Amino acid sequence: MANPIRVAPSVLSADLGRLADEVQMLEGGGADWIHVDVMDGRFVSNLTFGAPLIKALRGLTDLPLDVHLMVMEPERYIEPFAQAGASVFTFHPEATIHVQRHLAAVRENGMRAGLALNPGTPLSMVEEVMDDLDLLLIMSVNPGFAGQSYIGWATDKIRRTRLLLDQHGSGAFLEVDGGITPDTIGAAHGAGADTFVAGSAIFSAPDPAARIGELRDRFKEGVSV
Ligand code: DX5
Ligand code: ZN
Repeated sequence: MANPIRVAPSVLSADLGRLADEVQMLEGGGADWIHVDVMDGRFVSNLTFGAPLIKALRGLTDLPLDVHLMVMEPERYIEPFAQAGASVFTFHPEATIHVQRHLAAVRENGMRAGLALNPGTPLSMVEEVMDDLDLLLIMSVNPGFAGQSYIGWATDKIRRTRLLLDQHGSGAFLEVDGGITPDTIGAAHGAGADTFVAGSAIFSAPDPAARIGELRDRFKEGVSV
Protein backbone atom coordinates (compact mmCIF):
# COMPACT_ATOMS: atom_id res chain seq x y z
CA MET A 1 0.00 0.00 0.00
CA ALA A 2 1.71 3.17 -1.19
CA ASN A 3 2.05 6.35 0.87
CA PRO A 4 0.79 9.72 -0.40
CA ILE A 5 2.94 11.22 -3.15
CA ARG A 6 5.86 13.40 -2.13
CA VAL A 7 8.05 15.58 -4.33
CA ALA A 8 11.50 16.26 -2.89
CA PRO A 9 13.50 18.86 -4.85
CA SER A 10 17.27 18.41 -4.51
CA VAL A 11 19.16 21.55 -3.50
CA LEU A 12 22.19 20.10 -5.27
CA SER A 13 20.88 21.91 -8.37
CA ALA A 14 19.85 25.10 -6.56
CA ASP A 15 21.69 28.43 -6.66
CA LEU A 16 23.30 28.32 -3.21
CA GLY A 17 24.07 32.02 -3.42
CA ARG A 18 20.32 32.60 -3.26
CA LEU A 19 19.47 29.80 -0.84
CA ALA A 20 16.74 31.65 1.04
CA ASP A 21 15.00 32.63 -2.21
CA GLU A 22 15.32 29.12 -3.59
CA VAL A 23 13.78 27.58 -0.45
CA GLN A 24 10.94 30.09 -0.52
CA MET A 25 10.36 29.24 -4.18
CA LEU A 26 10.26 25.50 -3.38
CA GLU A 27 7.78 26.07 -0.56
CA GLY A 28 5.63 28.22 -2.83
CA GLY A 29 5.70 25.52 -5.51
CA GLY A 30 4.42 22.90 -3.06
CA ALA A 31 7.56 20.87 -2.33
CA ASP A 32 6.90 18.23 0.34
CA TRP A 33 10.48 17.58 1.42
CA ILE A 34 13.83 19.16 0.62
CA HIS A 35 16.41 16.63 -0.54
CA VAL A 36 20.00 17.30 0.52
CA ASP A 37 22.74 15.39 -1.34
CA VAL A 38 25.81 14.96 0.83
CA MET A 39 28.87 13.69 -1.08
CA ASP A 40 32.33 13.10 0.38
CA GLY A 41 34.62 12.73 -2.65
CA ARG A 42 35.16 9.07 -1.70
CA PHE A 43 31.90 7.15 -2.02
CA VAL A 44 31.33 9.32 -5.06
CA SER A 45 33.91 11.57 -6.69
CA ASN A 46 31.93 14.74 -6.18
CA LEU A 47 32.17 16.81 -2.99
CA THR A 48 29.18 18.80 -1.77
CA PHE A 49 28.05 19.86 1.70
CA GLY A 50 27.48 18.79 5.29
CA ALA A 51 26.03 19.89 8.63
CA PRO A 52 26.42 23.67 8.05
CA LEU A 53 24.12 23.60 5.01
CA ILE A 54 21.59 21.40 6.83
CA LYS A 55 21.62 23.90 9.69
CA ALA A 56 21.18 26.82 7.29
CA LEU A 57 18.23 25.09 5.62
CA ARG A 58 16.69 24.29 8.99
CA GLY A 59 16.76 27.99 9.75
CA LEU A 60 14.93 28.75 6.51
CA THR A 61 12.11 26.20 6.44
CA ASP A 62 9.97 23.84 8.48
CA LEU A 63 9.81 21.35 5.59
CA PRO A 64 11.35 17.94 6.36
CA LEU A 65 15.00 17.78 5.30
CA ASP A 66 15.58 14.54 3.43
CA VAL A 67 19.32 14.01 3.73
CA HIS A 68 20.93 11.50 1.34
CA LEU A 69 24.47 10.57 2.32
CA MET A 70 26.70 9.40 -0.48
CA VAL A 71 29.64 9.04 1.89
CA MET A 72 31.84 6.34 3.35
CA GLU A 73 31.23 5.57 7.05
CA PRO A 74 27.96 7.52 7.21
CA GLU A 75 27.64 6.66 10.92
CA ARG A 76 30.07 9.48 11.67
CA TYR A 77 27.39 11.98 10.69
CA ILE A 78 24.36 10.64 12.59
CA GLU A 79 24.67 12.89 15.62
CA PRO A 80 25.90 16.05 13.88
CA PHE A 81 23.21 15.87 11.23
CA ALA A 82 20.50 15.24 13.84
CA GLN A 83 21.70 18.30 15.74
CA ALA A 84 21.74 20.33 12.52
CA GLY A 85 18.06 19.53 11.95
CA ALA A 86 17.95 16.63 9.48
CA SER A 87 14.60 14.80 9.36
CA VAL A 88 15.43 11.76 7.22
CA PHE A 89 18.92 10.21 7.25
CA THR A 90 19.48 7.90 4.30
CA PHE A 91 22.78 6.13 3.71
CA HIS A 92 24.16 3.48 1.41
CA PRO A 93 24.70 0.01 2.91
CA GLU A 94 27.60 -0.36 0.46
CA ALA A 95 29.42 2.33 2.46
CA THR A 96 29.54 0.79 5.91
CA ILE A 97 29.66 -2.47 7.87
CA HIS A 98 27.19 -2.41 10.80
CA VAL A 99 24.11 -1.34 8.87
CA GLN A 100 21.49 -2.44 11.40
CA ARG A 101 23.27 -0.78 14.31
CA HIS A 102 23.46 2.49 12.39
CA LEU A 103 19.80 2.39 11.34
CA ALA A 104 18.87 1.99 15.01
CA ALA A 105 21.13 4.90 15.95
CA VAL A 106 19.48 7.11 13.34
CA ARG A 107 16.08 6.48 14.94
CA GLU A 108 17.50 6.95 18.45
CA ASN A 109 18.63 10.36 17.29
CA GLY A 110 15.09 11.28 16.32
CA MET A 111 15.41 10.95 12.55
CA ARG A 112 13.76 8.64 10.04
CA ALA A 113 16.12 5.90 8.91
CA GLY A 114 16.64 5.23 5.22
CA LEU A 115 18.81 3.04 3.04
CA ALA A 116 19.74 3.85 -0.56
CA LEU A 117 20.72 1.27 -3.16
CA ASN A 118 22.91 1.96 -6.16
CA PRO A 119 21.56 0.63 -9.46
CA GLY A 120 23.92 -2.35 -9.32
CA THR A 121 23.25 -3.22 -5.67
CA PRO A 122 20.76 -6.06 -5.16
CA LEU A 123 17.58 -5.63 -3.14
CA SER A 124 18.63 -8.59 -1.01
CA MET A 125 21.04 -6.18 0.70
CA VAL A 126 18.14 -4.78 2.76
CA GLU A 127 15.99 -7.86 3.39
CA GLU A 128 17.26 -8.51 6.91
CA VAL A 129 16.67 -4.96 8.10
CA MET A 130 13.19 -4.27 6.80
CA ASP A 131 11.86 -3.57 10.30
CA ASP A 132 14.54 -0.93 10.83
CA LEU A 133 13.63 1.07 7.73
CA ASP A 134 11.46 4.17 7.41
CA LEU A 135 12.51 4.74 3.80
CA LEU A 136 14.05 2.79 0.96
CA LEU A 137 15.67 4.80 -1.82
CA ILE A 138 16.19 3.22 -5.21
CA MET A 139 18.78 5.05 -7.26
CA SER A 140 17.75 5.40 -10.90
CA VAL A 141 21.20 6.77 -11.83
CA ASN A 142 24.64 5.98 -10.50
CA PRO A 143 25.01 8.64 -7.81
CA GLY A 144 27.45 11.52 -7.92
CA PHE A 145 25.99 14.15 -10.20
CA ALA A 146 22.73 15.84 -11.06
CA GLY A 147 21.42 15.86 -14.61
CA GLN A 148 21.93 12.20 -15.57
CA SER A 149 19.35 10.13 -17.47
CA TYR A 150 16.91 7.79 -15.74
CA ILE A 151 18.04 4.16 -16.12
CA GLY A 152 15.05 2.40 -17.66
CA TRP A 153 15.51 -0.90 -15.89
CA ALA A 154 15.28 0.86 -12.51
CA THR A 155 11.52 0.71 -13.02
CA ASP A 156 11.54 -3.06 -12.63
CA LYS A 157 13.63 -2.76 -9.47
CA ILE A 158 11.12 -0.27 -8.05
CA ARG A 159 8.36 -2.78 -8.79
CA ARG A 160 10.23 -5.53 -6.94
CA THR A 161 10.93 -3.14 -4.08
CA ARG A 162 7.22 -2.37 -3.75
CA LEU A 163 6.53 -6.11 -3.56
CA LEU A 164 9.21 -6.59 -0.92
CA LEU A 165 7.84 -3.74 1.22
CA ASP A 166 4.30 -5.06 0.91
CA GLN A 167 5.37 -8.62 1.73
CA HIS A 168 6.90 -7.32 4.94
CA GLY A 169 3.89 -5.14 5.71
CA SER A 170 6.29 -2.20 5.71
CA GLY A 171 4.97 1.34 5.53
CA ALA A 172 8.41 2.68 4.56
CA PHE A 173 8.55 5.38 1.91
CA LEU A 174 9.71 4.13 -1.48
CA GLU A 175 11.80 6.93 -2.91
CA VAL A 176 13.36 7.17 -6.36
CA ASP A 177 16.28 9.46 -7.16
CA GLY A 178 17.97 10.31 -10.44
CA GLY A 179 16.73 11.51 -13.79
CA ILE A 180 13.17 12.16 -12.60
CA THR A 181 11.36 14.43 -15.07
CA PRO A 182 7.75 14.84 -16.21
CA ASP A 183 8.58 12.11 -18.78
CA THR A 184 9.98 9.52 -16.35
CA ILE A 185 8.05 10.12 -13.13
CA GLY A 186 5.00 8.22 -14.39
CA ALA A 187 6.98 5.00 -14.82
CA ALA A 188 8.45 5.23 -11.33
CA HIS A 189 5.05 6.01 -9.86
CA GLY A 190 3.36 3.21 -11.77
CA ALA A 191 5.93 0.80 -10.37
CA GLY A 192 5.06 1.80 -6.82
CA ALA A 193 7.35 4.67 -5.81
CA ASP A 194 5.73 7.34 -3.63
CA THR A 195 8.56 9.83 -3.08
CA PHE A 196 10.34 11.53 -5.98
CA VAL A 197 13.61 13.42 -5.90
CA ALA A 198 14.16 15.90 -8.71
CA GLY A 199 17.11 18.21 -9.19
CA SER A 200 17.76 19.47 -12.68
CA ALA A 201 14.18 18.88 -13.84
CA ILE A 202 13.06 21.51 -11.35
CA PHE A 203 15.93 23.98 -11.22
CA SER A 204 16.58 24.03 -14.98
CA ALA A 205 12.93 24.64 -15.74
CA PRO A 206 11.90 28.11 -16.94
CA ASP A 207 9.54 28.27 -13.95
CA PRO A 208 10.93 25.94 -11.26
CA ALA A 209 8.01 26.39 -8.85
CA ALA A 210 5.54 25.52 -11.60
CA ARG A 211 7.63 22.48 -12.55
CA ILE A 212 6.91 20.95 -9.13
CA GLY A 213 3.22 21.18 -9.99
CA GLU A 214 3.86 19.72 -13.46
CA LEU A 215 5.53 16.69 -11.87
CA ARG A 216 2.47 16.23 -9.65
CA ASP A 217 0.11 16.66 -12.59
CA ARG A 218 1.51 13.51 -14.15
CA PHE A 219 -0.25 11.52 -11.43
CA LYS A 220 -3.55 13.29 -11.92
CA GLU A 221 -3.36 12.30 -15.56
CA GLY A 222 -2.84 8.71 -14.47
CA VAL A 223 0.34 8.43 -16.53
CA SER A 224 1.91 5.07 -15.92
CA VAL A 225 4.25 4.52 -18.83
C1 DX5 B 1 22.50 11.95 -7.61
C2 DX5 B 1 21.79 12.61 -6.43
C3 DX5 B 1 20.48 13.12 -6.84
C4 DX5 B 1 20.54 14.25 -7.82
C5 DX5 B 1 19.33 14.18 -8.67
O1 DX5 B 1 23.75 11.61 -7.26
O2 DX5 B 1 21.62 11.68 -5.38
O3 DX5 B 1 19.67 13.46 -5.72
O4 DX5 B 1 20.60 15.52 -7.21
O5 DX5 B 1 19.49 15.07 -9.72
P1 DX5 B 1 18.66 14.89 -11.06
O6 DX5 B 1 17.21 14.98 -10.68
O7 DX5 B 1 19.11 16.06 -11.88
O8 DX5 B 1 19.01 13.56 -11.64
ZN1 ZN C 1 20.00 12.17 -3.77
